[in-house]
Amino acid sequence: MCGIVGYVGRQDGVPILMEGLQRLEYRGYDSAGVAVAKNGALRVHKAQGKVRDLAAGLPKRVAGPAGIAHTRWATHGVPSDVNAHPHVDATGNVAVVHNGIIENAGVLRARLEQEGVAFASETDTEVLAHLIARSDAPDLEDAVREALRAVQGTYGLAVVDARHPDRLVIARNGSPVVIGIGEREMLVASDVAALVRHTQQIVHLDDGEMATLRPDGYSTSTLDAQPTQKTASTIDWGAEQYDKGGAEHYMLKEIHEQGAAVQGTLRGRLDHRFGTAHLGGLNLSARELRSVRRVKILGCGSAYYAGLMGAGTIESLARIPADAEPASEFRYRNPVIEADTLYVAVSQSGETADTLAAVQEVTRRGGRVLGIVNVVGSSIARACDGGVYLHAGPEVSVASTKAFTCTAVAFALLGLHLGRIRDLGPADGQRLAAALAELPSQVEEVLARDGLIAEVAEAFAGCDSAFYVGRVRGYPVALEGAQKLKEISYVHAEAYPSSELKHGPLALIEPGLPTVAIVPDDELLDKNRSTVEQIRARDGRVIIVGHRSLGGLADHEILVPRSQPELDPILLGIPLQLLAYHAAVALGRDVDQPRNLAKSVTVE
Ligand code: AGP
Repeated sequence: MCGIVGYVGRQDGVPILMEGLQRLEYRGYDSAGVAVAKNGALRVHKAQGKVRDLAAGLPKRVAGPAGIAHTRWATHGVPSDVNAHPHVDATGNVAVVHNGIIENAGVLRARLEQEGVAFASETDTEVLAHLIARSDAPDLEDAVREALRAVQGTYGLAVVDARHPDRLVIARNGSPVVIGIGEREMLVASDVAALVRHTQQIVHLDDGEMATLRPDGYSTSTLDAQPTQKTASTIDWGAEQYDKGGAEHYMLKEIHEQGAAVQGTLRGRLDHRFGTAHLGGLNLSARELRSVRRVKILGCGSAYYAGLMGAGTIESLARIPADAEPASEFRYRNPVIEADTLYVAVSQSGETADTLAAVQEVTRRGGRVLGIVNVVGSSIARACDGGVYLHAGPEVSVASTKAFTCTAVAFALLGLHLGRIRDLGPADGQRLAAALAELPSQVEEVLARDGLIAEVAEAFAGCDSAFYVGRVRGYPVALEGAQKLKEISYVHAEAYPSSELKHGPLALIEPGLPTVAIVPDDELLDKNRSTVEQIRARDGRVIIVGHRSLGGLADHEILVPRSQPELDPILLGIPLQLLAYHAAVALGRDVDQPRNLAKSVTVE
């Protein structure tokens, strides 16, 4: 979704801003723009389309020591040059880039128009530029503060003023803003991806905070002008981790990073002697964890499916009732919050608006929330009482792969930890700890089947639709597999519990229709075999993902190494990522930036 970059320093900011925009492209956007202040004037350039379109139209002479830039994902007003950010006031002095939604923009716009202000765009953001410029406050920060007092809604924003080319003013309410501290230069971005090439030192603004950035420092304060104290932190991820590293797509690179990513999630957390997991960030004692009577997992999209997988793992290891629910639904249904329920929010980005809102609602009502999050210092991570970081490295492709797998691993660690506090015996704990330690090399074994999976993926290339089926532990695997195929190949895919097929969807099986069946070698093998037989009896095409051959029953077999039954879904899910990837490539799709989707959904 929308992205912000800002620069103030002693060099020309334009190349830094443009490079920052490229780093934000992965988030999804439809237009881009840049504004720089120099010699008392603003230069503003905007373009619908890609950052490269903006760069192509940018005159060489555009330069300046202070500037802001933006990638826009349309909410108010169609994607167009004029609706792209930055937005400028009528005098041309003040430019604003903004992520979020100004909810009372209509009222403010009508009032400003009555006062004679002519609007150039259809956006909610433009009201901010006019409000700031019309303030009588002598200082830019005070003018922004005054404008923000009139505004209802969410924002992460950056403002540059031609009359003050030595500073940027930034503010945050519900949309991330991160300051990057450089050498005699300061940066700002909505995502650290735009900062890592320039600095590792960052400061996260909190909701209701604003800041003035100057080349030699920054000051932060509340919207009520009370100064605040901030502590800088260091970004864990290096700039090179954001590069494609020779891979054709980020998605393929990230799929193949999963062995190392799982290693990152496990590092330092397995205790083989006691057969348990150490999770230092939970901030809950063993006694507090013993009193947990229920686990409720919240997340969106693939994070929700990883939560469904995690609920199964926790229930079987810790014997605590556990379930998962889309955070996007939970937040609107007036949920009952129980004191002895442990809430777990799942998010790769840590910025998903629905998940953040769910966390805030649970916390506001006195519930305890743990986060399973990849991005350190993200909004959800900071809103939770404690949690587990994935340490999976940055995930750039819109389609989540390594974060999904690592979330499942994090749930296995949490389940092991909870289980060993309760009724899981030491031998079972050691069995699982040993199996977890083996996962990274088993992930590599699955990835070595990439060539075979690419061949199988041809099954999807000529199809309009596909089924994914799995039973019990295999059902979340099927859900996530269907999600992957849908989002990047645009092939319609449905996931069902295998047991449900004959209660309706079997009517849709027809000759050639591909069904991916999750068939682990477990106590349900015979049931799963019979599902495959039912599909084959109707000439449906079956691809099984499992542990052993069904002896010619299926059309294609993708076999993965066996782990322990509780952990098998982690490995069974990986071929489904590769299947979707190769199907999407065969269909010529834009794999890393699929249509209509954004990497991190920071607005409703
Ligand atoms: C995953 O492939 C999707 N792009 C999407 O469902 C994603 O998982 C969801 O939007 C949640 O994102 P988060 O993990 O960053 O919160």
